[in-house]
Amino acid sequence: MLLIRIVAVVIILLWIPAGSIWAKGDAKRGEYLAAAANCVSCHTAEVKDAVPYAGGHAIKSPFGTFYGPNITRHDKQGIGKWNEADFFRAMRFGKRPDGAVYFPAFPYPSYTMVTNSDLTDLWAYLRTIPPNNAPNRKHDISVFVRWRFPLRLWKWLFFTSGVFVADPKQTPQMNRGTYLVRALGHCSECHTPRNFLGVPIQSRYMAGGKGPDGKKVPNLTPAGLKKWGDKDLKEFMVTGIFPDGDVVGETMGIVIRNSTSKLLSTDLDAMIAYLRTLPRLEKE
Ligand code: HEC
Ligand code: HEC
Repeated sequence: MLLIRIVAVVIILLWIPAGSIWAKGDAKRGEYLAAAANCVSCHTAEVKDAVPYAGGHAIKSPFGTFYGPNITRHDKQGIGKWNEADFFRAMRFGKRPDGAVYFPAFPYPSYTMVTNSDLTDLWAYLRTIPPNNAPNRKHDISVFVRWRFPLRLWKWLFFTSGVFVADPKQTPQMNRGTYLVRALGHCSECHTPRNFLGVPIQSRYMAGGKGPDGKKVPNLTPAGLKKWGDKDLKEFMVTGIFPDGDVVGETMGIVIRNSTSKLLSTDLDAMIAYLRTLPRLEKE
């Protein structure tokens, strides 16, 4: 009897096609990581009853408007045919399965720091998302930008791949906060100003200025957050309400709704602790 069962299990395992919902990571953990990384916001249209992860969110930039693609398990419109290695290559190296380079509107310059085990869990979670046949919307960008070749040069000059490595001299809380803000949370994609090539100015890391859509983004270094207590910051990251009672605007509101409000209290504390250690950068 046991032998028959073993044979049955082996047959079932062989029968399950590659790229099916069975992945070796922990999908439940992956769901939490996807919230910390706010994957859903850019990959879901801003219409009522939009299907999560079926694509369509507009990402405005000085180079035009990008649309988050369908990343459901659909074979044709989504990434149903992908395997885990394709996913790792996209997140770690910003590369499409056919070798083309992704536009950094997909924040892989931050996601490159996500650890292997977290990528495995994220992949397991993505495999649980039901397929949807919504077609991808073409990016609305100038012809020159649309041409992916200059991107290779951009990437060669400005992109360094590399997984986050915890600093043994720091506390576990500080390492966790650094990882959440820099890798998964990709907070600096909006809070660090960019030069005319769209490259973040590292000497102004998290010092705010003009955001990717050209609108103002606040300074998150201690110079910018000096009036905020830790409790105010935490309250804001959960509710989107400023200490004076004002309600947050749309751009950060989406980050709070889909991401920071879903995080564990200890993770929020870690992120705030990390923000407090940033070099103090006054307004320019
Ligand atoms: C700030 C917006 C944004 C966020 C946040 C974001 N993405 Fe994307 N993503 C994009 C854009 C835009 C593209 C398409 C880039 C291109 O066409 O070059 C993309 C492409 C992808 C692709 C490749 C799809 C394909 O068909 O080639 C995958 C997979 C992906 N994202 C997964 C994720 C995951 C997983 C997360 C969360 C960890 C995430 N994305 C978060 C904007 C985003
Ligand atoms: C998509 C762009 C974007 C991303 C990503 C983003 N932010 Fe923001 N953030 C904004 C904008 C825009 C505002 C201004 C909101 C307003 O005034 O209504 C803001 C405001 C804030 C504020 C209030 C600061 C102040 O002085 O008013 C805090 C705190 C903050 N963000 C933290 C974060 C953290 C932490 C992350 C990463 C998890 C993050 N943000 C990611 C765009 C972004």
